[in-house]
Amino acid sequence: MTQHVRGVIARSAGAPVEMATIAIPDPGPGEAVVQVQACGVCHTDLHYREGGITDAFPFLLGHEAAGIVESVGDGVTTVAPGDYVILNWRAVCGQCRACRRGRPQYCFDTHNAAQRMALEDGTELSPALGIGAFAEKTLVAAGQCTPVDRAAAPEVAGLLGCGVMAGLGAAINTGAVGRGDTVAVIGCGGVGTAAVAGARLAGAAKIIAVDLDDRKLAGARALGATDTVNSRDLDEDAVVGAIRDLTGGVGADVVIDAVGRPETYRQAFYSRDLAGTVVLVGVPTPDLRLDLPLLDLFARGGALKSSWYGDCLPSRDFPMLIDLYLQGRLPLDRFVSERITLDGVESAFAKMHTGDVLRSVVVL
Ligand SMILES: NC(=O)c1ccc[n+]([C@@H]2O[C@H](COP(=O)([O-])OP(=O)(O)OC[C@H]3O[C@@H](n4cnc5c(N)ncnc54)[C@H](O)[C@@H]3O)[C@@H](O)[C@H]2O)c1
Ligand SMILES: [Zn+2]
Ligand SMILES: [Zn+2]
Repeated sequence: MTQHVRGVIARSAGAPVEMATIAIPDPGPGEAVVQVQACGVCHTDLHYREGGITDAFPFLLGHEAAGIVESVGDGVTTVAPGDYVILNWRAVCGQCRACRRGRPQYCFDTHNAAQRMALEDGTELSPALGIGAFAEKTLVAAGQCTPVDRAAAPEVAGLLGCGVMAGLGAAINTGAVGRGDTVAVIGCGGVGTAAVAGARLAGAAKIIAVDLDDRKLAGARALGATDTVNSRDLDEDAVVGAIRDLTGGVGADVVIDAVGRPETYRQAFYSRDLAGTVVLVGVPTPDLRLDLPLLDLFARGGALKSSWYGDCLPSRDFPMLIDLYLQGRLPLDRFVSERITLDGVESAFAKMHTGDVLRSVVVL
């Protein structure tokens, strides 16, 4: 029987989000209905509501969540009602060309629910990243549910569902930070600060955090940054110079751009050592262009990589990172700046711009 729950939708580009009644069908084959317990507010939700991702409005926002599986459809064997899960947006297919080559983290045909959730008048909703978890319940593909140890509270566990995983993975998986490496992270919101924490887990010797806001830099230091650069009043060359000064004049082995703008990318590009690695994990808007001398791309060598969801494999990485958290080796709880209700999503967006929070988490 179709259920009706409360959820947060974006109806048109730039308009404030609204509370709405969402119709959730029973799970069909391969699907699951999940009772959402917590969902973090990610910058990507704001990108959606501003029309920066697609124009498939209305969106059911929220995609960084943990909860309890309520019911499953036919043929589902990987999760059962009652399981405690983190929702992921990379339910790998096992059959596409990436999966068949043994690189499922690049899966080009990830699974989402086949049925659509809808508004009461029947208007179909586009769930953000195929999840839509700013709602009391949501419908997903069963493969989007990754069971983890229930000793981790949902507001903490859910963060691995997107931004924190993206940042940790940008350092550990994409950047392949190793013991003794020097690392710089530009932009220390939830994603960048997680990259700092990932670099620390991987054994980096020096971790330089760069942001426009001293509060973000203090947060990055608490998660493992050894040095900080406030770039608010610095031009691009001065940011590059500051990172080089902190790395013996040569630049960092791995530089992670967790903002995604031409100026931060150029800072990352020129502040890494020769043959170093740049990881772009911040998501640029469609209007942005990058202009670099082609010779510099050649002459500086190394690797220029993008990190989609931290190149994570949820079934491998979520339980492992939750275990590290429970062992006290990864302070995931420090990412939770405030607990809010579904009505607080719009003001959480505003706080992203004022720099007040690392993560606002909706707790249901
Ligand atoms: N690649 C992925 O899979 C993935 C996943 C989740 C989020 N993201 C993206 O990562 C980015 C960051 O997300 P977030 O949730 O951490 O955002 P956020 O808004 O919480 O943090 C952004 C941080 O960047 C800082 N900043 C902005 N401009 C800067 C500049 N010029 N120089 C230095 N610092 C600057 C801000 O002060 C802020 O601390 C977004 O673009 C988001 O869409 C990517
Ligand atoms: Zn695949
Ligand atoms: Zn996200």
